[in-house]
Amino acid sequence: MRAPAKLNLHLTVGAVRPDGFHELTTVFQAVGLYDEVTLRRADELTVKVTGVGADLVPLDATNLAARAVCLLAVQTGHDPRVAIAIHKGIPVAGGCAGGSADAAAALVGCDALWGCDWSRDRLAEAGAELGSDVPFALHGGTALGTGRGEQLTPVLEKGDYSWVLALSDEGLSTPAVYGELDRQRQTGPVGVVSDPAEVLAALRQGDAEALGRGLGNDLQPAALALKPSLRLLLEAARDLGALGAMVSGSGPTVAMLARDATAADTLASALSRAGLGVAVRRADGPVAGARVVGH
Ligand code: C5P
Repeated sequence: MRAPAKLNLHLTVGAVRPDGFHELTTVFQAVGLYDEVTLRRADELTVKVTGVGADLVPLDATNLAARAVCLLAVQTGHDPRVAIAIHKGIPVAGGCAGGSADAAAALVGCDALWGCDWSRDRLAEAGAELGSDVPFALHGGTALGTGRGEQLTPVLEKGDYSWVLALSDEGLSTPAVYGELDRQRQTGPVGVVSDPAEVLAALRQGDAEALGRGLGNDLQPAALALKPSLRLLLEAARDLGALGAMVSGSGPTVAMLARDATAADTLASALSRAGLGVAVRRADGPVAGARVVGH
């Protein structure tokens, strides 16, 4: 299986709900940076992780792919003893929903392995309890997310978008970034991004320039407070001619939009040479959600 990373092209964070999650309005896009997950029946449930940042991923029952296997096993009456192998292409703790991608891949994989034949909607409904971004990792493409991010509406769109991602080597904890935003909001007004109308209109028209102008993320000031060096990446994006740039989700990955694939390749090379201490990746979107790809 392979499952894509997500970017939040727009993210409005609303009030804290009684369950502790924040009310969100977000526009997700799945981009071509993938985790590969393989499953096979085994004597016990095990998790092996390779790839960039693998040492930061838990191998015990808290691993989101392992939790996904157990969840589907309980709900379908199958045996959860499978060997899970994850190869990380999505940055760990990077604000690109890598853990949710692994859970989505595991759900799709178990569904195939056990012949459950669940619909994607049914898998998404089950997966939402594992993480707010799991339904989108199954869905892919571009979608509007509401609730805590798990309620999806497809978005009318055209065009392909060429992204450059700057990956920091030290991740940010999602709860810590939400906590910092809450703290900032208690002590004074924090600029909020407006509604997602501008981003949705740009996507409808396939207008990369308008999308670049419209990118916005309420979590960005909190991510910048916890990791001030991200400001240099946002400045570099502007200086190097990106159409727009923002911290993705809770960060610290910074996503930069380029006019087309050629401009993105040029931007990626220039960013690599700028010596900002980040790994640079190219990824285009939108791409499909978690899928079985061969056996
Ligand atoms: O659902 P997920 O595992 O992505 O959430 C991780 C953490 O991010 C939550 O425990 C919560 O602290 C924060 N979060 C939030 N509101 C959301 C989504 C996530 O406060 N809508």
